[in-house]
Amino acid sequence: MKLTAATPADAPAMASAHAQAFDTPWDEMDFEDLLDGEGVFGFLVRGEDPAGVLICRAIAGEAEILTVGVAPWARRQGVAQALMAAAIGAARGAGAADMFLEVDVDNAPAVTLYERLGFVRTGLRRDYYDRGAAGRADALVMRLDLTSQAL
Ligand SMILES: CC(C)(COP(=O)(O)OP(=O)(O)OC[C@H]1O[C@@H](n2cnc3c(N)ncnc32)[C@H](O)[C@@H]1OP(=O)(O)O)[C@@H](O)C(=O)NCCC(=O)NCCS
Repeated sequence: MKLTAATPADAPAMASAHAQAFDTPWDEMDFEDLLDGEGVFGFLVRGEDPAGVLICRAIAGEAEILTVGVAPWARRQGVAQALMAAAIGAARGAGAADMFLEVDVDNAPAVTLYERLGFVRTGLRRDYYDRGAAGRADALVMRLDLTSQAL
């Protein structure tokens, strides 16, 4: 599989990877608009098909992961870890000192991934996610100190 920095021309592939990873996916236009935004960059992993996608925004010394998702068929092969490592490197390059993200408290795969990368829990947003019939779920806010040499 191959990881590349995303351009607006990758919007269809990004939307395809996102649709495989999430129940409520973002469409091509969402990705085109996002990549147009200040400080926004993305990465895409492709195998035979789009396998994983990540979007990050780095502004004023702070980076935020806006989305990261991997298609079920491509999971547990290091795709998300590679996407996150690329984003961490790019955010550092853009001068960010911290990286933040929000994650469903019950999303064990993602929380495990982030903790393994060195993210720490810094807060909780109550009832942040709407899971339809399953009710609402809290979001963990997690932070990575980009000035440390861990990665
Ligand atoms: C969370 C997600 C992005 C992980 O993607 P992935 O490519 O499978 O992750 P990686 O293969 O890079 O995993 C790296 C490490 O994260 C942890 N991890 C990943 N998936 C895990 C799982 N299902 N259970 C436990 N730990 C897991 C492990 O420590 C793993 O290392 P290991 O495989 O050597 O044990 C993927 O499951 C996904 O897209 N889920 C749906 C969308 C989502 O929840 N996105 C995050 C929203 S905040």
